[in-house]
Amino acid sequence: MTEELTLPAAVSGGSLPAGFLWGAATAAYQVEGAATEDGRGPSIWDTFSHTPGRVRGGGTGDVAVDHYHRIREDVALMAELGLSAYRFSVSWPRIQPTGAGRVEERGLDFYKLLVDELLDHGIEPWLTLYHWDLPQALEDVGGWPARDTAARFADYAGIVHAALGDRVRTWTTLNEPWCSAFLGYGSGEHAPGRQDPADSVRAAHHLLLGHGLATQALRAGGADPRVAISLNLYEVVPAGDADLEAARRIDGLQNRFFLDPVLRGAYPADVIADLAPVTDFSFVRDGDLAVVSQPLDALGINYYSRFLVRDGAGSDDGKSGPAGERKLVSPFPGAGSIGTDPGELPKTAMDWEIHSAGLTAVLTRVSRDYDAPPLYVTENGAAFVDTPAADGAVHDPERTAYLAGHVAACQDAVEAGVDLRGYFVWSFLDNFEWAWGYDMRFGIVYVDFPTQRRIVKDSARWYAASARANRPLPVPDAPVDGVSPRSGGPAHHDGAGGRP
Ligand code: FCB
Repeated sequence: MTEELTLPAAVSGGSLPAGFLWGAATAAYQVEGAATEDGRGPSIWDTFSHTPGRVRGGGTGDVAVDHYHRIREDVALMAELGLSAYRFSVSWPRIQPTGAGRVEERGLDFYKLLVDELLDHGIEPWLTLYHWDLPQALEDVGGWPARDTAARFADYAGIVHAALGDRVRTWTTLNEPWCSAFLGYGSGEHAPGRQDPADSVRAAHHLLLGHGLATQALRAGGADPRVAISLNLYEVVPAGDADLEAARRIDGLQNRFFLDPVLRGAYPADVIADLAPVTDFSFVRDGDLAVVSQPLDALGINYYSRFLVRDGAGSDDGKSGPAGERKLVSPFPGAGSIGTDPGELPKTAMDWEIHSAGLTAVLTRVSRDYDAPPLYVTENGAAFVDTPAADGAVHDPERTAYLAGHVAACQDAVEAGVDLRGYFVWSFLDNFEWAWGYDMRFGIVYVDFPTQRRIVKDSARWYAASARANRPLPVPDAPVDGVSPRSGGPAHHDGAGGRP
């Protein structure tokens, strides 16, 4: 990962391939609300967000942006914007309130309604089975560090597929298992908020095993589903000459620890060796990796920024999380002495450096180093402070520039030969941004949280026009990344960033 990739220096401005998907994404807990309606059971995010000091501002997903009750108008708005696909997630505790056994039909009915609305509007449903909201009852008996959770996940996958397999073509098993494992059980920033490095590695394995078992369950249900997984990948760059080894380790834990088992059927040997002081991997059983590495029909890549890593900049320094009250530990098991530099590039409100060339690098790297199925960018976007202007509109030129730069980066990847077939902006709506609560707005549609009124941001108008043209349209003003796509500005910079 540390060798330089050669990227095309100039961009030609051609269209994206015919049939390229222009989508938008959300996740159940972040948008639905209706937390106790229609038989939904509690998830780890309900418990976590209701625990004082875990989420900034004390926000919860109880109401979120009320998507549960506003499906029709929200889908109509997607159609107005000309989106070709909507990536949403199913809330496991709506379908199985205790994570096992009894199925709640009203939960399935909600997703049938959503899918039917999408299909009626000509929008392709992209369904994710798990975007972090584990039923609390499963956490109470061990959560993802327990092997049985993987089997429960496969059961749930089969249940959802039996209800929706006739109308949903593309199924994503997991969203960002790195976050579920290493933020949920390692650093403690995400639900369930445990801080146990050994358990975080067990959790990662059982998530991947769950992915493989769910893939089998989906295919066993017939209807020829297309199966995918979404991984959050970073370009990992050493801050200095002394940091090559640190970069190898972080690239190993962030990228290869997930790519290798899924696409090659083996954990990377160097990462297993790095983790020797943390765990002996005795939880990996014969045959597991064959299950994990079922052939896939698509690979989702979520990209936001990159890591500029420095040895000794340690994140095991008792840094507080977004809520400010709790000390987090490093999300990288066994590598707590390695930290990230803030870097010099302009940043989003999350303090993530804006670095669109990293997206091209990640896409090119996966396509070069792995025998990968067709790629999709299943998340990319940016939080900025948005305020409705006197004219009632939300002018967000920084987000437009961010999106333009990153869609142009996709174009660069396509021109370099990557089989990239779609892009989903994160997010369709402003929403509950996990430990950051309602402080961070990622939507291309603004939500006035007290009234739930939706206002289409300027970035959404740009996105809609670009989708119609099937290429990123030039952005007239104020590029943030030095990128005004196809306008001849400095196309790419180096920089750093990453999830806190
Ligand atoms: C990703 C998550 C998504 C959202 C964005 C900003 O890691 O998958 O839910 O929080 O970050």
